[in-house]
Amino acid sequence: MGSSNSLIDRLHRLNDIGIALSAERDTPKLLERILENARSLTHADGGTIYLVSEEDKCLNFKIMMTDSLGIHWSEALDSSTQKYPCLPLYQADGSPNDHLVATHCATSCKSINIPDVYATENGFDFTGTHQFDQRFGYRSKSFIAVPMANNDGEVIGVVQLINALDSNTGEVVPFSKDDRKLVESLASQAAVAVTNQRFIDDQRQLFESLVKMISDVIDERSPFTAGHSKRVSALTLLLAEAANNNNDPETHFKMEDEDRYELEIAGWLHDCGKITTPDHLLDKSTKLQTRFDRIKVVELRTEILKRDAYIDYLNQTNDTTDSKELDRIKLRYEEKKQRLDEDFNFLRTMNIGGEFLHDKAIARIHEIGDRHWLNSGGELESFLSPEEIEYLCVRKGTLSDIERKKINNHINASIFILNGLRFPPYLKNVPEYAGGHHEHIDGTGYPNGLKGDQMSIPARIMAIADVFEAITAHDRPYRDPIMLSNALKILCRMRLDGHLDGKLVDLFIKGKVYLQYAEKFLHKSQIDEVDESQLPGYNPD
Ligand SMILES: [Fe+2]
Ligand SMILES: [Fe+2]
Repeated sequence: MGSSNSLIDRLHRLNDIGIALSAERDTPKLLERILENARSLTHADGGTIYLVSEEDKCLNFKIMMTDSLGIHWSEALDSSTQKYPCLPLYQADGSPNDHLVATHCATSCKSINIPDVYATENGFDFTGTHQFDQRFGYRSKSFIAVPMANNDGEVIGVVQLINALDSNTGEVVPFSKDDRKLVESLASQAAVAVTNQRFIDDQRQLFESLVKMISDVIDERSPFTAGHSKRVSALTLLLAEAANNNNDPETHFKMEDEDRYELEIAGWLHDCGKITTPDHLLDKSTKLQTRFDRIKVVELRTEILKRDAYIDYLNQTNDTTDSKELDRIKLRYEEKKQRLDEDFNFLRTMNIGGEFLHDKAIARIHEIGDRHWLNSGGELESFLSPEEIEYLCVRKGTLSDIERKKINNHINASIFILNGLRFPPYLKNVPEYAGGHHEHIDGTGYPNGLKGDQMSIPARIMAIADVFEAITAHDRPYRDPIMLSNALKILCRMRLDGHLDGKLVDLFIKGKVYLQYAEKFLHKSQIDEVDESQLPGYNPD
């Protein structure tokens, strides 16, 4: 009656274990639980879990415990060295390796229960067990190996237990039939749990690699943004970690591992909408850049005008032999040629967009543009088209208003794409985190003009990470890499302009997040001494 009650009790525990296994999401912890429970259900002193490596056709040691020797080894905790060699499932001729209990158990999908491993009649090679006993002064005796077969009947591993202990005397006794059935049941639930977890891990890895690949491809469409998403993701996590570790309620953001993962993915995807941005806008280095730099066309027109001037000059010199008149003709020609060269050089400088354009420069662009040249059809055309004038007259940078709107629209596209994806619950905040990186704390950002309190702390953190990455990136057109101290000054000025969350910028500086980032991602030559007391608006208290 007593043993029957004990069995019922053990069956109840088995049920609880099954439920617990199905909830475990970490494979090493799952294996740990399986072995601990198998040992506790059977009062076994030791045990090992092997998992099948399909690639290498062998059994890999994953976890091993021997209570009485205080041994607790797990591959997950000791991945630096392969402590135990894997066991080949097949021999050189392709036949199953039936010499070892564990491999025979795996290839035959049968449990093996041996009362005493030192009894000669068991027929298996226990050399490894004997070596273990000699090394640790142990005496392996009773032994059970049970296959872990999943729903498809596929053996994914083996649970092996050593030395069942009598619960009253502590003596080593053989594993009973009930023990075997309990471990078989546990092993089968464990196999299903491990298979499910592998499936989840595989899906997650596939998702993650897809996210990173897409983001990399989008960023690398332009050499100026290569690696941007990866670095924004990393910097976001660094600042979020500082927010996790500080107690100020205005900047504190509590993170568990899943929150970190959600934030990392949001960082990788924050600019996914750039997939809709035309190529030539992504790295527009001059005002007239489209698929090519149209300044070349302006240069050709200048050359045509210079040749027309030369032809005029030759024609005029044919009409006279007066030396003074010839000198005047030559001078007019030289002056015209010089003016054309000067005008073109002026336009070429304007095209670069390196400095702010004042009204005088705008007027000169219009004046040059309103001149005429004779096209191939013999028609007079304006030297510059209205569109070329408009682009050259952009006062700051290289982008026209329309082009800037097209670039800014990437955030609408990001939000549209991310809202259209069916994220699992643990990634549900990705659209909000990623979609707010161009909003300003004072409501002047885009696309929704959100104010600080309308954005989550991670979204505000990502806005800082996005800006700081862009300021410090090495590969920007017509700009030397910026020094760290200058980048921080720019960041602080943006905070004073109401663009960024002041408390989070303070934390960025106070927590030396900028330095952690710089050491990891900036060129050594960019990292200079930072005098935090000189940073505008910085408040360390
Ligand atoms: Fe963006
Ligand atoms: Fe970005």
